[in-house]
Amino acid sequence: MNRKRVGILISGRGSNMASLIEAARSESCVYEVACVISNRPDARGLQLAKNAGINTIALDHKSLGTREALDEAMHEALLANKVEFVACAGFMRIMTADFVARWEGKIINIHPSLLPLFKGVDTHEHALRAGVRVHGCSVHFVSAELDAGAIIAQGVVKVLPGDDADTLAARVLPIEHKLYPKVLNALAEGRIRLNDNLVEFTDDDAANLSLLAAG
Ligand code: GRF
Repeated sequence: MNRKRVGILISGRGSNMASLIEAARSESCVYEVACVISNRPDARGLQLAKNAGINTIALDHKSLGTREALDEAMHEALLANKVEFVACAGFMRIMTADFVARWEGKIINIHPSLLPLFKGVDTHEHALRAGVRVHGCSVHFVSAELDAGAIIAQGVVKVLPGDDADTLAARVLPIEHKLYPKVLNALAEGRIRLNDNLVEFTDDDAANLSLLAAG
């Protein structure tokens, strides 16, 4: 099988990255992880990726200076690794519109809230403060506006009495780890597409990935 080459962008812990790498071990997976790029040289995820035998690239945003310089370096690295799809996994830098346009329909992100609620950071705190009864994660196409691209799939958990941000995050994270590889696989298979800023599923199985509910 000719597997699609994926580049993963990270900034930190790398647990979603690890779940994408793990899923790629399966014979039925249609993608392979070609490289992991971090804007932080000390990201824990870089070491995890190295240990898994993946090509890792550290592009320190501080020494690169500007957003444009980081994005240009990332673009070059992705091309050099013949990447066809990009998965952001805890990547914490805002991207330039140019970079996003170059990867339109090929770049996705996972965000720890049910978008369009709670964009940005501290999503679990915001969810608790807002008093929502369900919370979760969203996988979406990346667009120039932060956390605002077309939503592909969402994973849902109940908010329980007594939850704090940590307990809630601990229930959302395993859902992220389940959902993200499935969506990336279907995207790489060409079963999920971006058309005019709307998501198209080519078949029912792909469409059924759009909701993952955990009790
Ligand atoms: C995850 O909650 C992800 O949804 C968000 O940032 C966190 C990254 O965690 N974008 P990890 O680095 O994947 O462990």
